[in-house]
Amino acid sequence: MRTPIILDVDTGIDDALALLFAARHPELDLRGITCVAGNTSLANVVANTCAVLDLVGARDVPVAAGAQRPLIEPARDAAHMHGADGLGNLGLPASDRPVDARHAVMLLRDLLTEAPEPITLVTLAPMTNLALLLRTYPEVTEQISRVVFMGGSASVGNASAVAEFNVWHDPEAAAIVLGSGLELTMYGLDVFNEVVVPAEEVDRLAGAGDPVLRAAGQLLGFRAQLGEADESALRLVGDAGAVCALVAPELVRTQRWPVQVELAGGSRGQTVVDRRTRLGEDLVHGLAGTGPLVDVALGVDVPAMVDLFLRTLATPGRPAESAL
Ligand code: BDR
Ligand code: CA
Repeated sequence: MRTPIILDVDTGIDDALALLFAARHPELDLRGITCVAGNTSLANVVANTCAVLDLVGARDVPVAAGAQRPLIEPARDAAHMHGADGLGNLGLPASDRPVDARHAVMLLRDLLTEAPEPITLVTLAPMTNLALLLRTYPEVTEQISRVVFMGGSASVGNASAVAEFNVWHDPEAAAIVLGSGLELTMYGLDVFNEVVVPAEEVDRLAGAGDPVLRAAGQLLGFRAQLGEADESALRLVGDAGAVCALVAPELVRTQRWPVQVELAGGSRGQTVVDRRTRLGEDLVHGLAGTGPLVDVALGVDVPAMVDLFLRTLATPGRPAESAL
């Protein structure tokens, strides 16, 4: 039984790795991809997503463009991390495939309502599209089996000292999704920053004959080219880890905690994970409410996840269509 999923992406180096993984995993039924501004502009996200799907032979998967900016603030990209084109300036052949004519919100609604069974949503980007969907067509929540989102942190941030990029980019959208009552798994920086592919594996991939493996090696190696000093930021599977966590939940240690999104001040975009085991005075005196319960990923079996990622990429379920 394959798990039906829809990915929401801001492709993005590690979104590309997640797309390759999802397209090649035999137990995932990739029903559609929705795009949103985040790591790079919406136009780049759509172009990058289509190019990656062509590469992995997934031209049949519908791709739709969604929000060009967050609900309130302007779009602020991460070109310094993902390259000017958002995809490490790899030079993948541009896709000539048609983009779905529907807005991402409409594609999500149609895919969800037409499916005979509930679908899992995996968001690897700011959650603008999903928030718009939930506000526009709240009835579709019944057709969403759960949401696995890359975003947030129970510890440090990256976009700010305390906020992770995807939540920081559109905090109101994240708050809408967290408050939706949906079953939620947060794959945040606490695990995202751990899953590093060994340098020798990256070199092996970059020299592989299969264009999918070769692209994966080049994507994984991009940050090293930037001369980043922080070794832990290099060679991350990144967003692909959230998809790995979906297919192999045993590799991730989660705990269910209340999580709230900060919307104001210097901590805007922070996900406050309330890990207290006693009743706090703020609750006793009615000064705060508890946030929605979220399964928060706090630990990961790194070698096993890297192994799953590499083995899956090496499984050519679909023919690679273009060479680099
Ligand atoms: C997130 O931001 C982007 O750089 C990655 O694609 C990931 O989704 C990590 O904060
Ligand atoms: Ca992303």
